[in-house]
Amino acid sequence: FGRQLHLLDVVPSTQDELRRLAEQGAPEGTLVIAEQQTNGRGRMGRSWVSPAGKGIWMSLLLRPPVPLPLTPQLTLLAAVALSRAISREVPVKIGIKWPNDLLVGGKKISGILLESAAEDERLRYVVVGLGISVNLDAEDYPAELLDKAISLKMASGAPINRSGLIAIILEEFERLYDLYLEQGFAPIRSLWEAHSVTLNSETTLYTPQGAVLGIPRGLDDMGGLKVEISDGSYRTIYSAEIGDRVV
Ligand code: BTN
Repeated sequence: FGRQLHLLDVVPSTQDELRRLAEQGAPEGTLVIAEQQTNGRGRMGRSWVSPAGKGIWMSLLLRPPVPLPLTPQLTLLAAVALSRAISREVPVKIGIKWPNDLLVGGKKISGILLESAAEDERLRYVVVGLGISVNLDAEDYPAELLDKAISLKMASGAPINRSGLIAIILEEFERLYDLYLEQGFAPIRSLWEAHSVTLNSETTLYTPQGAVLGIPRGLDDMGGLKVEISDGSYRTIYSAEIGDRVV
């Protein structure tokens, strides 16, 4: 991964740059990195704070030979790869909040956004957007985010070398992706569950169909979250926002 590298200065969003390259036939592993994004985006239509030179704002191209409904598995794979990479480089304890937010001490240090293109239920490509708040200072965040977000520098007390961290991220990502292609989702699922802070405590999940109160118990084979609800039955949820309480 990263052998085809596009290093850019200021872009609206690395997602759009890489999607354009993907449509032009760019190979798997193509990487777009920007120093700054003026219109960085997050999940659920939110924006993503991406100031110049302070974070890792990048998008990685995958062309996985898997059907569209298995995309949630790749979402979880990305979270495991990123959390393993950061844990190798920075002395912080990372927890994964379902599906793929990385938290330190309950505050978000990184977000992942998958955008895909499919044809006849098969994935043509997936653009994996990785945003890591590396060396941001408190004043880089809007005030209302300060109780929810933190940078690696703020959490660990020391600035972090971004290019070293990028190299480790690509290494971990490629290793886990190869494992996934060889052995399927089972090993990724175990790793995700081991790093999760979402399991086994009651929470509210805001799904597109409405709020669900329950206790997340684990992942299903497709990458959905199995939630035990009050009558003891289970529901599997593929898309939702988790209430603040769980973190
Ligand atoms: C989230 O937690 O909501 C996901 C945030 C994803 C941010 C990254 S930064 C690089 C890539 N380009 C974007 O515009 N977004 C992703």
